[in-house]
Amino acid sequence: MIAKVQSYALSGLEGVPVTVETDVSRGLPAYDIVGLPDAAVKESKERVRSAIKNSAYAFPSHKITVNLAPAYVRKEGTAFDLPVAISLMLATGALKAEKETLEKTVFLGELALNGDLRPVTGVLPAIISAKDKGYTRFIVPKGNEKEAGYVHGVCVVAAKTLKEVVEHLSGSAPLPAVETATFTNPTAEAPTAYDLSFVKGQAIAKRALEVAVAGGHNILFVGPPGSGKTMLARAIPSVLPDMQFSEALEITKIHSVAGTLGEEGIVRTRPFRSPHHTATTVSLCGGGNKTVHPGEISLAHGGVLFLDELPEYSRSALEALRQPLEDGVITISRSGGTVTYPASFMLCASMNPCPCGNYGSKKRSCSCTPRDIRRYRAKISGPLLDRIDIQVEVDGVEYDDLVAESREENSAAVKSRADGARRIQNERFAGGKVKTNAEMGERETREFCRLTKEGEEVLREAFETLRLSARARARILKVARTIADLELCENIQPEHLYEAISYRAYSGEREE
Ligand SMILES: Nc1ncnc2c1ncn2[C@@H]1O[C@H](COP(=O)(O)OP(=O)(O)OP(=O)(O)O)[C@@H](O)[C@H]1O
Ligand SMILES: [Mg+2]
Repeated sequence: MIAKVQSYALSGLEGVPVTVETDVSRGLPAYDIVGLPDAAVKESKERVRSAIKNSAYAFPSHKITVNLAPAYVRKEGTAFDLPVAISLMLATGALKAEKETLEKTVFLGELALNGDLRPVTGVLPAIISAKDKGYTRFIVPKGNEKEAGYVHGVCVVAAKTLKEVVEHLSGSAPLPAVETATFTNPTAEAPTAYDLSFVKGQAIAKRALEVAVAGGHNILFVGPPGSGKTMLARAIPSVLPDMQFSEALEITKIHSVAGTLGEEGIVRTRPFRSPHHTATTVSLCGGGNKTVHPGEISLAHGGVLFLDELPEYSRSALEALRQPLEDGVITISRSGGTVTYPASFMLCASMNPCPCGNYGSKKRSCSCTPRDIRRYRAKISGPLLDRIDIQVEVDGVEYDDLVAESREENSAAVKSRADGARRIQNERFAGGKVKTNAEMGERETREFCRLTKEGEEVLREAFETLRLSARARARILKVARTIADLELCENIQPEHLYEAISYRAYSGEREE
């Protein structure tokens, strides 16, 4: 007898339907699974066999063939254990279920040897894709209940064991549907570990940070050791705008696939990823040999990727960031196929200006030779620097500033101004793919960054004296747009351009 049940595989964040069919026929006892990669077949076979036996069901001694179709779909992970077990039990007659119960039902779950159901990765994107294809019922492990609850308009059942699933399907002990969850932003009172008010002085750097957050621009802090660069970067999450539910779902999909989803089952705050500088290109960008997984840049999607001590990262890892920084996605090609993950993040980087760290400082003298300095700076390629809209030099703080009782502005005040600028952007780009000024393409830049004659002159002069690239010009325009938005100005004024240009000083200087 042949039995069929439905499951789902993932390609990137897109779900692909996989049908699990089992044929049980007379013949010498044999048990084969086809349609899975070699190593996975062996493991899955043994788990399914033990789980069925240990759930006190008989495992048939017939000729069993399980097929996961279509064969060309790359199937990864362990989520097919449950559908394989169910289709096998249906084929042998150990499980009898009404046709309607199985129709439009998708099974996902890994089996433990004792018959327990273990959570699997990628449940959220699989359910969302399957829902779009018309599937309405889902049976998932209890551990995936939370994330599944955020998909509205479907019926999800979460089970702890194979036995529970079998009894649910046979009708002897039906399980309740998982309650749908509502998305809420974390409360504003939640204390943040880092606040902008902890950073004393550094008014210019703070202003630059505000502009960067307001428009989603990349930012680089350059300065001597101990000036507060890392502190500033760590305060960014406290000023980032709150998330919408749709954004949260998109980000959660990635974390669900990567297996980095927390207890809550949804990502409620924007990600802040700070991979160490020993990170490899694969861990930054994603990839892998056997299975392709999202890298840090995708985990930072919708949030911030913080690269502290930028020149210490390997050259190849940094160069690999160039395409995602431009396109907001990363495409990974492997022999098994091509996978695309979203990777639209705000890059925040920090570095010292030279090996001793004091070049350009007003307080300390630099002991490096010009050659040392050149070599150090050359670690960051021109094209990468060109993609960083805002580059600020941060000098050491004055002692008086450091001990002054004066209260520094806190993150909440900065956030409310940045939120104001974001609201203008939301209206400007309503309904489109672009969400922030930083993401504007050629067409949007032309439309929304018109300059007055005077403004045009300002930009021309900067272009020639700083020998800027065409990309730098476009990026200056976008930053100027954000500065104008922060001041609630409809048109970009020369002073907005001056400020935007001042943020390119670091790369301008090195092109001398
Ligand atoms: N502007 C500042 N206000 C208050 N404290 C500061 C400031 N700058 C530095 N500090 C103090 O110095 C410590 C180090 O600062 P931070 O790690 O941000 O320096 P950095 O600029 O990243 O240095 P490095 O280049 O060595 O990484 C902080 O933990 C804080 O105690
Ligand atoms: Mg630091």
